[in-house]
Amino acid sequence: MKRTLIAGLCALILGAVPAGAQWGPRPIPEPTDGLKDAYKDYFKIGVAVNNRNVADPDQIKVVLREFNSITAENAMKPQPTEPKKGEFNWEDADKIANFCREHGIKMRGHTLMWHSQIGTWMYQDEKGNLLPKEEFYANMKHHIQAIVNRYKDVVYCWDVVNEAVADSPVYPGRPELRNSPMYQIAGEEFIWKAFEYAHEADPNALLFYNDYNDAEPAKSKRIYNLVKRMKDAGVPVDGIGMQAHYNVYGPTMKEVDDAIALYSTVVKHIHLTELDIRINEDMGGGLRFRQGAAQVSDWERTLQQDQYVNLFKVLRKHKDVIDCVTFWNVSDKDSWLGVNNYPLLFDENYKPKQAYNAVKGFDPKMDNVVIKEDFKPSELNQPGQEYPMVNSQGYARFKVNAPKATSVIVSLGLGGSGGTVLRKAEDGSWMGTTAGPMDEGFHYYHLTIDGGVFNDPGTHNYYGSTRWESGIEIPAHDADFYAMKNVPHGKVQQVLFWSKSTNQNRVAWVYTPPQYDKNKKKYPVLYLQHGWGENEYAWWNQGHANLIMDNLIAEGKIEPFIIVMTYGMTNEGFRPGQMPRPARQEGAPAGGPGARPGAASGGAPQARPARPAGGMGMMMNNGFEAVLCDELVPYIDANFRTIAKKESRAMAGLSMGGMETHTITLARPEMFGWYGLLSGGTYNPEEVKGTGVKGIFVGCGSKEGPDQIRKAAADLQAAGFNAKGYVSEGTAHEFLTWRRCLYEMAPMLFKK
Ligand code: XIL
Repeated sequence: MKRTLIAGLCALILGAVPAGAQWGPRPIPEPTDGLKDAYKDYFKIGVAVNNRNVADPDQIKVVLREFNSITAENAMKPQPTEPKKGEFNWEDADKIANFCREHGIKMRGHTLMWHSQIGTWMYQDEKGNLLPKEEFYANMKHHIQAIVNRYKDVVYCWDVVNEAVADSPVYPGRPELRNSPMYQIAGEEFIWKAFEYAHEADPNALLFYNDYNDAEPAKSKRIYNLVKRMKDAGVPVDGIGMQAHYNVYGPTMKEVDDAIALYSTVVKHIHLTELDIRINEDMGGGLRFRQGAAQVSDWERTLQQDQYVNLFKVLRKHKDVIDCVTFWNVSDKDSWLGVNNYPLLFDENYKPKQAYNAVKGFDPKMDNVVIKEDFKPSELNQPGQEYPMVNSQGYARFKVNAPKATSVIVSLGLGGSGGTVLRKAEDGSWMGTTAGPMDEGFHYYHLTIDGGVFNDPGTHNYYGSTRWESGIEIPAHDADFYAMKNVPHGKVQQVLFWSKSTNQNRVAWVYTPPQYDKNKKKYPVLYLQHGWGENEYAWWNQGHANLIMDNLIAEGKIEPFIIVMTYGMTNEGFRPGQMPRPARQEGAPAGGPGARPGAASGGAPQARPARPAGGMGMMMNNGFEAVLCDELVPYIDANFRTIAKKESRAMAGLSMGGMETHTITLARPEMFGWYGLLSGGTYNPEEVKGTGVKGIFVGCGSKEGPDQIRKAAADLQAAGFNAKGYVSEGTAHEFLTWRRCLYEMAPMLFKK
């Protein structure tokens, strides 16, 4: 019971924490289908395997579920297959080929001619002198044709020549090709010959030229030039393999897009042959092969996911010419780079990363969306600040000046994205637009610059996540109900009250309706609590509670009442870094059974709930009940014209404030007559029986698992209670949900 309670509380509270907070990787449920299925209308998804990958049952399961093209990581290379002239060793290659034959999977052959992993006998004599061209060609032909013939039935394409183009920079007048022994013997011609020999052995195989730094503009031009020369001369080259050993900082997606566009002018087939995206900047020849357990920060995961997601978007765009995308290894554990580079979509335990879901769960409709260029500064910006901006579709665009930074991430983005990664713009600033429209309403956010957390200097700050954070407002279609209009306005005033139990002055903000100063009437009072990470500013600052009240009163929709907002001491228990990490589920119910603190008390209405374990327990048993009931309520009744009785006193709260409301209303049934839980759990009829409650409101956003709310309201109504359930359409655990909840709840309160 306790465990569900804590998980429920955590799910709720976590909902209030902006994306990008430091929680570590989330467990992803075991997939039921694979990347190959998600991309069946686009291209094959391949993988490079070692012998263990095709022998271990657990690894086989992943390979067969995810991939429909297989490359032997090393087993078909020149040196392993023919270590000595004429002495072939097919053992490892056969194992992998037989696995593929058995499972009906076609292979990419890798690789026939390469300066690396090749027996030196191929091109030099025992003294180390380069062989005459004819002898080298004879060696090459014999090797290529032996292997191509042996695997003809199962290999559908070959990387015929690997890495023969020179790395940048290449100075004018220097060869565009790598100065390998083969090049020294025969010049460019050896490349052409390799293709001819392969084609002779298997005229049906697609033949590729394969290289790395494949999206670097200068090198991609050299790769293009080589293939173009071969094409023009009638050499049987069919495709270009882009190795795609990328990293989280580069290449840019424009570079990848441009390279594919360039290659597609000379070949009909482009494969990504060795895809991985490492979390450091080393490229190509300068690789650092780091070992040891992966130590990855959340922001690096976000960068990696962003790079993967955007890469696959570019690849989908070029599906006409891209027909296979192969990952270089199954999991980080197998990666040639070592686990610490964290380069693949499966982690060192063969578990999918969040990035896997993001790559797999693309929305084809979003690929062709045109973003409207009608961006305007967000209404929460500081004076004169242009950015962040919001457009009429709800996209947000950010611009940050950080000239020496290497990465800038905005903690706002689409579900599970971890944020929006900004990229360096031409003027040296960092810019980026959310991957899709944001939910309407208010969002907290922050920037992560090279791993450090900062506010966006463009916006005003709002207290959330236990600190003042940046905020942005996506204009809501129903924003009228909290708009500042030319109607009589109430006041929000600060009061300082002495709290004996905490031995200090404490702050509350009190909303008095417009009529309050003009008459002598007494008013009912709603005590309205913020959520975890927030404070007493939240409800009137982010929530516009005062404007919602002014508008409702002006329209004659409610009887005026006072609202009191104080700090609920919800942040005393822990800080984000200390937060127990729950098993997080997407769309965890806001009002789930675990979200009922009263449940811990066995539902006894008058009893104080048992204290849950750990940080949560501290939050719920933080002394707030005494501050509120024994200090603040008496202060308010003494200093404002209130109707100081239960029937005219309500308590409501959002999220963690809902938990507090639940606990305190049940512990002090003599004090409050009206209860409201806003994304903050539910009441059941058992626990409110005998409390004398006048009315109960439960609400949440449609993206928070609203069925629990609907059910709770129906159960309470069926048991004869005056209850209202409300679900805010299209919103999650955020302030538009709670603004709407207040608007829906206010008219029911204090009705006789
Ligand atoms: C790598 C393998 O993954 C390693 O196991 C091996 O030690 C070295 O080669 N470009 C290529 C691949 O074309 O063949 C390389 O594979 C990675 C770089």
